[in-house]
Order: sequence, then structure tokens, then C-alpha cells
Amino acid sequence: MREITMEELKLNPLTAFSKDWMALTAGNEKDGCNTMTVSWGHLGILWDSAKGFMPTAIVYVRPQRYTKKFMDSEQFFTLSWLGSGQHKPLGVLGSRSGRDCDKYKEAGVHPVFVDGTAYLEEAKVVFVCRKIYQAPLKEENFVDHAVCEIVYPGKDFHDVYVGEIIKILADE
Ligand SMILES: Cc1cc2nc3c(=O)[nH]c(=O)nc-3n(C[C@H](O)[C@H](O)[C@H](O)COP(=O)(O)O)c2cc1C
Repeated sequence: MREITMEELKLNPLTAFSKDWMALTAGNEKDGCNTMTVSWGHLGILWDSAKGFMPTAIVYVRPQRYTKKFMDSEQFFTLSWLGSGQHKPLGVLGSRSGRDCDKYKEAGVHPVFVDGTAYLEEAKVVFVCRKIYQAPLKEENFVDHAVCEIVYPGKDFHDVYVGEIIKILADE
């Protein structure tokens, strides 16, 4: 893996989330980690850092996900893009819970620990993120209530996590 600049990044964020899917990981070598598949998310710019515009990743995690425990306790999280055509391992990471089984073994993927966090060895691109902001989505803040009713019949509103992208790694 080589660290690349955001100018060198070739990935299409819209299709990376919606078509290929991403693997969200939080945790560390000492306490363990967990990974789940996500297809809702954003890569873009929000706020400023000392270097100027802050590159950010935004992800949405429902309260029942085991990964949420790690998202809440950790300072960092990562998004691993495995490339196209990786729905088999991502299907396992997106349907089984780390609460009940060794998902990594079942999915045939491997966590790598670096910089106090973890990502997937099989990744083609990794976004290492520092957690900046977390908040639950709220029913009363929906302007279009039809969306709320379709997506949240059980009122299990996602928490939003905004992370500063502090490093981009590419397998090239
Ligand atoms: C394609 C796909 C996309 C998903 N996107 C999300 C998402 O954006 N947010 C979320 O909370 N769950 C999402 N899920 C569901 C979790 O990945 C799934 O519930 C997973 O088993 C949770 O694992 P965990 O309990 O080990 O954290 C998605 C699942 C799939 C298959």
C-alpha cells in the first residue's frame, strides 16, 4: 500500500458506495475490530483543517450494528474499497454480525492494523478517517417524511459519522 494524495485518487465515490460497496472498519489491535459493508456514504469536503479544505468521509450506521460499538469507542475508522466485483465477501460482511461469528474468516478477508486503527488487506483503496462529528438522524428533521417512513419503519435511525480523511492508501 502506498499513500496517495487526493489529486491522485481515481475512484468514483458515487459508484464506489452504490455499486461496488465499501467495508467500514473500526477498532484496534489490542481491543479487536469489526467490519461491516456500507453502501450509503459520501466522500467530499466539509469544514477546514490547518491544511485548508478538509477532505471528509461520511458514513451512516444503524444502532443495532455491532460495528457501532467500535465506531463509538474509537477515534478512527477506515473505509476499504475492494474494487469492483467483490460482492461475495462484502455480502458476508453485510449480512453476518461480528457479534455471532468470525466474519473475517467467513468472508475470507483479513484486518490489517495500522495507525491505531484497522483496514482490510484486500483493499485497493483505503480512507483512514479521524472521527470529527457524530449525531443521530432525527425524525423531526426530515423535510420529506415519505423517505423517513420508507427507510425507518422501525425508527432505528442511523448515527451519522463525519471523519476527516487523514490518509489515503492505494494498492498500486
Ligand atoms: C450492500 C449493503 C450495504 C449496507 N449498507 C449499510 C449502511 O450504509 N449502514 C448500515 O448501518 N448498514 C448497512 N448494511 C448492513 C450491515 O452491513 C449489516 O447489518 C452487517 O451484518 C452488520 O454487521 P455487524 O453487526 O458485524 O456490524 C449494508 C449491507 C449491505 C449488504
